[in-house]
Formats: sequence, structure tokens, C-alpha cells
Amino acid sequence: MATIRDVAKLAGVSVATVSRYLNKSGYVNADTEQNLKNAIEKLNYIPSVVARGLAGKSTKTFALILPDISNPFFPELARAVEDVASTYGFTVILCNSDSQVGKEKNYIDVLKSKNIDGIIFASNTLGQEDVDKMVSSNIPFVCLDRAPTNKTCSVVRSNNREGGRLAIKHLLEAGCKKIGHIYGPQELIPAKERLIGYEESVRAFDWFSPSLMVQGDFGINGGIEATKTLMHRHPDIDAIFAGNDLMAVGALKALHRMGVKVPEQVAVIGFDGINMTEITQPELTTIAQPIYDMGALVSRILIKKIEGTIEEDQIYELDVTLIPRESTKRSG
Ligand code: RIB
Repeated sequence: MATIRDVAKLAGVSVATVSRYLNKSGYVNADTEQNLKNAIEKLNYIPSVVARGLAGKSTKTFALILPDISNPFFPELARAVEDVASTYGFTVILCNSDSQVGKEKNYIDVLKSKNIDGIIFASNTLGQEDVDKMVSSNIPFVCLDRAPTNKTCSVVRSNNREGGRLAIKHLLEAGCKKIGHIYGPQELIPAKERLIGYEESVRAFDWFSPSLMVQGDFGINGGIEATKTLMHRHPDIDAIFAGNDLMAVGALKALHRMGVKVPEQVAVIGFDGINMTEITQPELTTIAQPIYDMGALVSRILIKKIEGTIEEDQIYELDVTLIPRESTKRSG
């Protein structure tokens, strides 16, 4: 089935122009209009919302595929998605893929058979084959947070690289002299971007060494093990930047077991801004992602795609915020 991109290519215009013409949401000159009419007729193009309506397929339901529902970041994200969906009369089906490709592909097939109106992917295993399958099936979709690399789709994410830089800037301003980083799985874009933000901020210091970067798994135990490795390699560090809050909680646990005082001996900062950071001892400083805003925005974008009011793909990158708390408050 022809897509809006096929129409744009044949008519020699941008996808945005086709969208403007279809939605009558802006000026299109007479020649372009005629080219578009010819292209639409030649390709027998049917806009996605019409295609599903004609097939009596609209179910006012879309899916949110999450990679790990045991991580509080994702339920907080889902809360926002569901809040916005329900205000527009949509029901959300929550799916947990455990970051497994096979499980995610199965979900896509099952959801297609249920005539789902759209899918939000917060996982990262979407491959080009899956993208092509979604496009040819005319199922609108949007990626959230862990967007797959070089896939043409709309993405809502936070500015992870700037967040890494912000974390280091805060630690340096708190008087920290040697900073280690425990980072998330590098196949995940957010983890990779935060590592880049860390490295860009510290590599000029004479104390910097690649051995100051230790991989975790975005979980608490991964944070514990990575902190033990880091402290074994560099017992003289006085700060740790953890690539997400769960690993930062693991760092607090590991340092406590070692008898290391936080923040007096080692300051700790996390990333995400999940509610748990308010109840740790000491309370955890973090780089907060706009979790609710991300979920609300992606929900609105998908609904607009389902209703055919937007079709072009766009990257939406939201700012992160430093939340300073006790775990980095060093006296003097
Ligand atoms: O804590 C889970 C992590 O995975 C978050 O940082 C979020 O960005 C997701 O990618």
C-alpha cells in the first residue's frame, strides 16, 4: 500500500507539503496541487486514518510497548501516556517486551490482528523490518526514549547528552576532584548519550582515565557491582555519576557496605528523576527527565497520527533538569 512518502517522492515535494495538501492546513500552489492529485491517483494512495476507517478498523485503542516494567521509570511514563489517551477517549494496552526482540515481534503481530490503531515503542529492539511492516500495514507509530538508530520515525526523548554534562558540571561545582561513571547498556541510545556527555566533560582533566567508566545494566544490582569495580580500580574517586537512578541506588548501597560516607567521601548523582530518589538515605541528587511531559507528548503525537492530522516524522527532544539533594551536598 502506498505511503505518504511515496506520494511526496512521485510528486516531487516534501512529506510536509503532502500533509498540508491532505489536511488543507496551508497554501499549496496550483501546479503542486495538480501533481499531488496525479500522484495520489496513480498510486491509489489512501491516508492511514481513511484506510482504517474504510475497513471499519478504528478501535480507539493503541499500545505502549515497554522494555522493563520493573523499572519505575516506565510505569511513571505509562501513567502520563494513559492520562492523555483517556482524555481523547483512547484505551491503552500495556505490553512488556523485556527488551526481547522475539517477544516484541509477537506483540506487533498480535496487536495488528486486534486492529490496534497505533503503537508507542519505548523499547529499542525495533528493527528496519519491523518499521517497514508497520508502514506497509498503515499502523501509525511513534518511538519514545530508546529510539532505534537510523530508523525513520517520530521520536520523543530527553536531551541525554546535555544531562550527562549537567551532572558533571554539578559535581565539579560541588568541589569534586575525580569523578567515575557507571553507565547503562551501550546498545541503548540514552545510555550512550549520557556516557558521551560524561566523557566530553572530563577527558581534559589529568586525572581522567577510561578505567573510570564501568558498565552497569540499568538495575540496582548492576549499580552495586559496577560501584565495587570502580572503587577497586580507583579508591581515590570522590564522586560517581550513575547513568540512571536505579544504578545510583545501587551505588549508595555498595558505598554503605564499604563504609564509605555519602556525600562526605563520595558524592553520588543519578539520572531519570524517579520518585524513589526522594526516599533514599541520603536523598539522591539526580538529573530528572521530564517523564510525565514525555509520556503526555508522545500520546498526543500518536493520536494526531491516528487521526491523520500529522503525518511527517519529527524528533522531539525535551530538556532535563538538575534536582540537587543530599547525596552531592558537600560541606565547605
Ligand atoms: O532507568 C531506565 C532507563 O532506561 C532510563 O534512563 C530511560 O531513559 C530508559 O532508556
